[in-house]
Amino acid sequence: NEIYFEGLFGVQPKYPMAFAELAERAAAALPPSVWSYVAGGAGDEHTQRANAAAFERWGLVPRMMVGAAQRDLGVELFGLSLPTPLLLAPVGVLGLCAPDGHGDLATARAAARTGVPMIASTLSVDPLEQVAAEFGDTPGFFQLYPPNDRALAESLVHRAEQAGYRGIVVTLDTWVTGWRPRDLATGNFPQLRGHCLANYTSDPVFRARLAAAGVDPDGDPRQAVMEWTQVFPSPLTWDDLAWLRSLTSLPLILKGICHPEDVRRARDGGADGIYCSNHGGRQANGGLPALESLPEVVEAADGLPVLFDSGVRSGADAVKALALGATAVAIGRPYVYGLALGGTDGAVHVLRSLLAEADLLMAVDGYPSIATLRAEGALRRL
Ligand code: FNR
Repeated sequence: NEIYFEGLFGVQPKYPMAFAELAERAAAALPPSVWSYVAGGAGDEHTQRANAAAFERWGLVPRMMVGAAQRDLGVELFGLSLPTPLLLAPVGVLGLCAPDGHGDLATARAAARTGVPMIASTLSVDPLEQVAAEFGDTPGFFQLYPPNDRALAESLVHRAEQAGYRGIVVTLDTWVTGWRPRDLATGNFPQLRGHCLANYTSDPVFRARLAAAGVDPDGDPRQAVMEWTQVFPSPLTWDDLAWLRSLTSLPLILKGICHPEDVRRARDGGADGIYCSNHGGRQANGGLPALESLPEVVEAADGLPVLFDSGVRSGADAVKALALGATAVAIGRPYVYGLALGGTDGAVHVLRSLLAEADLLMAVDGYPSIATLRAEGALRRL
């Protein structure tokens, strides 16, 4: 409401409202190599574009006279009552995207201010404990890239438990890096990632491994990681799900799932949540837009919570994903661009704009709650 009224009274917003303009400003604000890493995707990026375009093929049918004066955008997720249906998607070079170089902390503060939970990436500039210390009363989740070294994976998960994270999101689609021409062109992908190793360099298992190998744990961590490939993500199979499940009693969420058969395997193996995503088109080109997989994933999940991301650029997009059955919708690039422009304030601006748009849309279209959005005929395919 505040954003809307400021607009009505001619107050110029400090940050752009539309995604295209946010992207344009972020491109100018970020160092070129960071910008191309964040904005780029796999191959010629047509899956990345298709992710966003897919939302245009669905439309909400408005309902009149429902008196939707009060809207409830709250959701229940893993026993948590969240004030909004949004999440902050895990982003690996987040630290480098904020003006002060501590974007993980800045994003955690945005989570504290908005009540939108952050899913903190394994690849962060600041260690997961310091990130969690900024969450305030907002719950947080930890995203794990399971390393080949299982003791290191266990250590990361136990640290996340100790630090108060409320769930573990295991990303399955990035055990090998996608074919990303922009990163190949800049050639600085390893350097960028090299700045995001705090969770390893602060880890007792990692440090012990280095010491045993005669490498100085306080030396250049990039060198250490390059030499010690056990830290690289592990190519898991479904037989490893039992091991992942055994790591924690926190909710276990599998990210990167788009096929209904994989949903069933995840369910059978004891996962608590499914995260339908194609990594924003960064990993595989030539794929279906993630939104097209969502209805089948929701059906196969059979009541298990389904998180969704990939291509959400507006409040209307978030509403459509919720109407298709997502329990919660994660925002990726839009908040990163806000972060690039104004740190915590910029990220908060993006989240509040998305929420304000979603809320107004639900009012105008006569859907006062997320449950009503799922009514027969609320959403039609063009
Ligand atoms: C990501 N994503 C990601 N996912 C993950 O599980 N761990 C990670 O470390 C990262 N790192 C990362 C870096 C950058 C720069 C981006 C843009 C994305 C994927 C992310 O969680 C999410 O799936 C996508 O961002 C969704 O696509 P859109 O909406 O951003 O296009």
